[in-house]
Amino acid sequence: MLKRISSSQLRQGMFLHELCGSWMEHPFWRSKFLLKDPKDIQRILDSGISEVWIDTSKGLDVEADVVSETREQVDEAIEEELTAAVTAPPPPQEKVSLDAEVERAAQICAKGKEKVVSMFNDARMGAAIEAEQCQELVEEIASSVYRNPGALISLARLKNRDEYTYMHSVAVCALMIALARQLQLPEEQVHQAGMAGLLHDLGKAMIPLDILNKPGKLTDGEFVTVKSHPEEGFKLLRDGGQVSEMVMDVCLHHHEKVDGSGYPHKLKGDEISLFAKMGAVCDVYDAITSDRPYKAGWGPAESLRKMAEWSKGHFDEAVFQAFVKTIGIYPTGSLVRLESGRLGVVTEQNPAALLKPVVKVFFSAKSKTPIPVALIDLAASNCNDKIIGREPPENWNFRNLNELWAGVASF
Ligand code: C2E
Ligand code: SIN
Ligand code: FE
Repeated sequence: MLKRISSSQLRQGMFLHELCGSWMEHPFWRSKFLLKDPKDIQRILDSGISEVWIDTSKGLDVEADVVSETREQVDEAIEEELTAAVTAPPPPQEKVSLDAEVERAAQICAKGKEKVVSMFNDARMGAAIEAEQCQELVEEIASSVYRNPGALISLARLKNRDEYTYMHSVAVCALMIALARQLQLPEEQVHQAGMAGLLHDLGKAMIPLDILNKPGKLTDGEFVTVKSHPEEGFKLLRDGGQVSEMVMDVCLHHHEKVDGSGYPHKLKGDEISLFAKMGAVCDVYDAITSDRPYKAGWGPAESLRKMAEWSKGHFDEAVFQAFVKTIGIYPTGSLVRLESGRLGVVTEQNPAALLKPVVKVFFSAKSKTPIPVALIDLAASNCNDKIIGREPPENWNFRNLNELWAGVASF
């Protein structure tokens, strides 16, 4: 018989059937085996998994007086949960152009920022975090990302340094949704991933503003304070009691690195959940592409290149690759140089050919003069131009680079 028991009740000789916390992706977590080695039990306890399934027909049972649940009881409870969860309408699948989405995306960004500000204020005042209030916002962000992922993701990147923390939450929400979709996760998990992105840095509400907004480098002591934000956020979410375990896990573990050098728990490789690994990639991408109080942002294409260099120790390789597929090798908003000598800004991705996006050209690098603005679809059969590389915007003094693709200056 299958029984769900607390991990603390695991003993040698029991047959491990499954670990609760189904998003754990490691082969170790998937396998079913007889617990012979005390180290395996310790690993389960160390990983923070609080409950497991054992198969009492293949190994030892728990003592008669220990509380456990049978499969039937648990299945019934899960079914109830799922029925409640599947009430959200399916997302619209229809794609629209960047131009058509940009204005709506700007409005959603503004609304999202307000919501995050009010949640941070609640946290600062010691009020309970009512994360359920964000469900509708996450749905709206998801719908925009489904219509055109480049619009909201690129707009949210154009933040002012003083609103960084809030818009960063909106941006990571959108990136998590796009990445979860790329990974073909079920709809409910896509939504949860978005919620996790929105709330991942909530613990920064507990960090003094003069540290958070410090224009320069942090002292070691200040960095110790900042590094408490995953745990602070976790506590806020847990006490609020309105988010799934997965959302709390991303909040707690988005600064872990696969080589074990992250914080707070120095988790390694597959000790980190899939969703926390996704959080790490989305978090760093939006951080380094944004202007922050302590640092100016890099261009999106340049940022991806840097992340690829770091990715060995920091990110999960497969998750990082999926991320690149999600936003493109030349993400929307990147400045690129074409073989013809023209410079342009990427406006649409071509999922089937990431090196051939749609580019809005506006300048000749050869003659160093503006040219009539035109949209070039590099994948079109009659197009014989191609990207020869990203172009550092700092080499040119283009004032309105972002207006060129966004149509709106900012918001
Ligand atoms: P954040 O600014 O949102 O950055 C999130 C994460 O992005 C960082 O986590 C780091 O993993 C990555 N990241 C950002 N900039 C760089 C970079 O230039 N190079 C590399 N390799 N990675 C980068 P981390 O380092 O744990 O920092 C957590 C938070 O601590 C930051 O969030 C920020 O709020 C604060 N912080 C870190 N360093 C400084 C600093 O020098 N000055 C100030 N004022 N805040 C800092
Ligand atoms: C861009 O990504 O905006 C082009 C230049 C760069 O990668 O820094
Ligand atoms: Fe963080």
